[in-house]
Amino acid sequence: MYEQHYTRFKDISVSERILNTVFLLTIGLGYLMALTNMYFTHQGLDGKSGLSVEDVVISYHGNRNQTRLGRAVNGVMKNNLRYTGDKDVILRWIQNGADEVGYNDKVAPILNRDCILCHTPSVNPSLPDLTHYETVSQVAHPSGATLPTLVRVSHIHLFGIAFILFFIGKIFLLCDIDANVKSVTVVISFFAMLLDVISWFITKSTPSFAYVVVYSGALMGLSMGFQILMSIYQMWFYSRKS
Ligand code: HEC
Repeated sequence: MYEQHYTRFKDISVSERILNTVFLLTIGLGYLMALTNMYFTHQGLDGKSGLSVEDVVISYHGNRNQTRLGRAVNGVMKNNLRYTGDKDVILRWIQNGADEVGYNDKVAPILNRDCILCHTPSVNPSLPDLTHYETVSQVAHPSGATLPTLVRVSHIHLFGIAFILFFIGKIFLLCDIDANVKSVTVVISFFAMLLDVISWFITKSTPSFAYVVVYSGALMGLSMGFQILMSIYQMWFYSRKS
């Protein structure tokens, strides 16, 4: 049967290899700059230096101390709590998403006992109403990244990275290695990019997804790094046996 011939690095001219190489090196440098930029914009948000998953949570989900309720029980309203341990109960509930079940189980009894003597509309209409879930929820949800911001960043990110991954992949496919390895590597890079962007949105409501943001970002970096290094290696240092 006629064997189809696919182009490999040995079939392309030296000038084309040079073009490929300077492109890949520039993208590699750009990627390092992107990592450095990410470090500078996210590090230290949790009050500790260095980049941590907690910083990613705060970037996309927001910080419980940034909610009005979180700030109040940490500050001016702290002394209204009969038991100091109740502060952590409230803060943990905020951090876990301030849902209605947790409110009914744990938070409402505290607020009803210590807070609503002042925080009731009939008593003080200008204070946050702490008598029922809907109004408590309004002061218990952190801001984090806004939806319009995420949409703007993701469309730029998807368009830009898709181009980069496409061209890196086009070059990488000229490698003389197993076809399945090539297909999987290329798919992983696109899949990781999509997962990364999708998990930004999920982290906004579910903080534990910050781990997916970190791991998918790392996975895309690994896939890109592998494609770049393997391509440069095969273009210049590899000659096919036989
Ligand atoms: C003795 C009355 C009183 C009690 C009891 C009280 N508060 Fe307040 N609270 C106020 C007043 C007055 C303000 C507005 C002035 C201020 O911020 O100090 C306020 C403001 C707030 C705010 C809004 C802060 C902001 O961002 O503007 C929150 C949230 C709050 N209280 C939560 C609580 C919680 C939770 C409790 C129960 C642990 C509580 N308060 C108990 C009087 C009270």
